[in-house]
Formats: sequence, structure tokens, C-alpha cells
Amino acid sequence: MQYAKLGSTGLDVSRICLGCMTYGEPDRGVHEWTLGAEAARPLIRQALEAGVTFFDTANVYSDGTSEEIVGKALRDFARRDEIVLATKVHGRMRPGPNGGGLSRKAIMSEIDHSLTRLGTDYVDLYQIHRYDHDTPVEETMEALHDLVKAGKVRYIGASSMYAWEFSKAQYTAERHGWTRFVSMQNHYNLIYREEEREMLPLCADQGVGVLPWSPLARGRLTRDWGAVTERSTNDAFGSRLYLESDRSIVEAVGRIAAEREVPRARIALAWLLHQATVAAPIVGAAKPHHLDDAVAAVELKLSGEELAALEQSYTPHAISGH
Ligand SMILES: NC(=O)c1ccc[n+]([C@@H]2O[C@H](COP(=O)([O-])OP(=O)(O)OC[C@H]3O[C@@H](n4cnc5c(N)ncnc54)[C@H](OP(=O)(O)O)[C@@H]3O)[C@@H](O)[C@H]2O)c1
Repeated sequence: MQYAKLGSTGLDVSRICLGCMTYGEPDRGVHEWTLGAEAARPLIRQALEAGVTFFDTANVYSDGTSEEIVGKALRDFARRDEIVLATKVHGRMRPGPNGGGLSRKAIMSEIDHSLTRLGTDYVDLYQIHRYDHDTPVEETMEALHDLVKAGKVRYIGASSMYAWEFSKAQYTAERHGWTRFVSMQNHYNLIYREEEREMLPLCADQGVGVLPWSPLARGRLTRDWGAVTERSTNDAFGSRLYLESDRSIVEAVGRIAAEREVPRARIALAWLLHQATVAAPIVGAAKPHHLDDAVAAVELKLSGEELAALEQSYTPHAISGH
């Protein structure tokens, strides 16, 4: 495994982050395709043994059970000081007033609930899962700063939003002397590259580390176009993200993988790892070989011709995944 600084911070992260949305009780929350504790724990252990130290979850994943499973496994298999544990806040955790969003009240409650489920007294990276258009950004940024000062959170990060929204939040924090976001977790992969227009140049300029979510386009980059799996048939969110015109890119991944005699996932992840702002793709691993491929991708160098072949047939997409 290789390690990199997260953006301009001093924080070391493994260049593969394990996406823990895959782990959670399938009868809780909206993802029926998740793995419960018994199936998840060996994968978390395998990731640790391969040198992965960076784990991403969220309060909403499987209604909090992802945090519970991941927290327990990391307590059992790892040393807390070596792990970079990331979670998120914003999604709705219960019906009714103050059940979601980024008000001071919601943030202060949700961090405590996350810490309880994770079984730890701090989170390394606390991310806002989306922008909250119904709460003043000053309120959100001051509340996040207070969590850092209270020792409950080491760094703060953000996830999918427009570049102007991210910029506004950062400059609001700076104007008040509050903590700024150090990372952007956004939707970025070979078949969704809209982030290259505004968000990635902003992150490069501001020293923000990029953590792409769904780096394999939720599996589409790993197999023939049209091939289905149990997850893909039950992935309502994922089914809205990609276009028929993406097929030629999936075919290019297949061609290069065949030439190199490696699984396609390695090629698609290696392409992301070649992008300058990317600190660590957040990979979803439901099987042992998914982890093997992610770890191997870190060492795979693509040639200039291969990078160009992967990029050349990209078709612009409408903004999605915010
Ligand atoms: N911030 C956000 O809004 C947001 C949104 C989405 C995700 N995330 C984060 O990003 C993480 C990853 O998301 P994701 O699971 O959608 O990412 P992904 O890595 O694009 O997709 C994972 C899926 O790809 C397939 N796959 C992975 N490795 C493979 C391999 N080596 N060979 C063949 N197939 C392979 C599997 O699909 P099958 O199971 O179908 O075989 C697996 O479930 C999440 O766990 C979460 O932490 C964040």
C-alpha cells in the first residue's frame, strides 16, 4: 500500500479508502444489497492486512448499522491511532423536525450518535454529506469548527455539491477564523468527469484532497455493458447516474485490461489514481477479489497512450449525484 497526505494537511491516508456503504444490515435503510456484520468483518480485516488504513462511512448508511459494524470491526482488528475513520452528516436519520440537515442542533446530536455507534471518542474526518440550502452556511461552519475544538473531530470535509457552494463555505470559514474543509468526496470516475470543469481545479488551487465516490461507477467499469449483478438490479440511485453513451469507455477499459491481462477494475482505479488531485478513491468491496484489485491498482502505471484511450470518448453528462 502507498500512503499520501490528504490535500495540504499532514494527515497520512492509504491511497485506497474502503467504502463502508457496502456494509450494513440489509433490512435497515435503503440499500438491500449490503453485507451484514458476519460477511463484512472478514473484508474489513483483509483491507487492514493489505495496509488500508482509511475507512469511509456515514450516519445514514443502513440506518446507522454501517457505523456499528465498521466501528466494532476496527476496534477488534486495528489500533485506533493508525486508522483514519471518516463519517458523514446531513441525511435524514428520523422523520420530523431536526431529523436531518446541517443545523447546529442536528450536527451536535448527530456527531454524538455517530461516536456512540462507532464506539470511539473522535472521528478523524467528519464530512457534510451534501450542502444544506435551508441552513445558513455560517451556522454549519461554526458548529463544525466547535466539534474540532471540542476534540470530537480531527478534520472536516465535504461531499458532492457545486463548486460555488464549496467555495462559499470555505471562505465563510476563513473570514471567521473557523476550520476549513480539507477534503472533497465527490462523484468522479471514467464515465462521470464533470468535476474536472470546476471542482477539481478549485480543489487543486486550495490544497483540498479529492476522495472520489463510486470510482468504479458502481461496478459498471468492471464488466461488460449490460451485465447485471444482485447489487446492480437493486441500485436505484446508481441506475440514474450513467448513459448509454458511456458504453464505449467501458469497452476501452475492457480492451486495455485484456491487453495487460489484468481485471478491468484495476485499470479504472489506476486511471483515477493518476489524477493529480485524487488522494484516495473510495472503493466498494463486497468480495475478497474486489479488495485485491483495488490494492493492486495502486501499483499499476498506465502509459500516456492508455490514459488517452481511456479518456477520448467521454461524453458530457448532466450534473448528477448531488
Ligand atoms: N458521498 C456520497 O454521496 C457517496 C455516494 C456513493 C458512495 N459513497 C462512498 O463511496 C463508496 C464506494 O461506493 P460504491 O460502492 O458505489 O463504489 P464502486 O467501487 O464504484 O462500486 C463498488 C461495486 O463495484 C463492483 N466491484 C468493485 N470491485 C470490483 C472488482 N474488482 N471486480 C468486479 N467488480 C467490482 C461491485 O459490484 P457488484 O457488487 O455489483 O458486483 C461493487 O459492489 C461507498 O461505500 C461510500 O463510502 C459516497
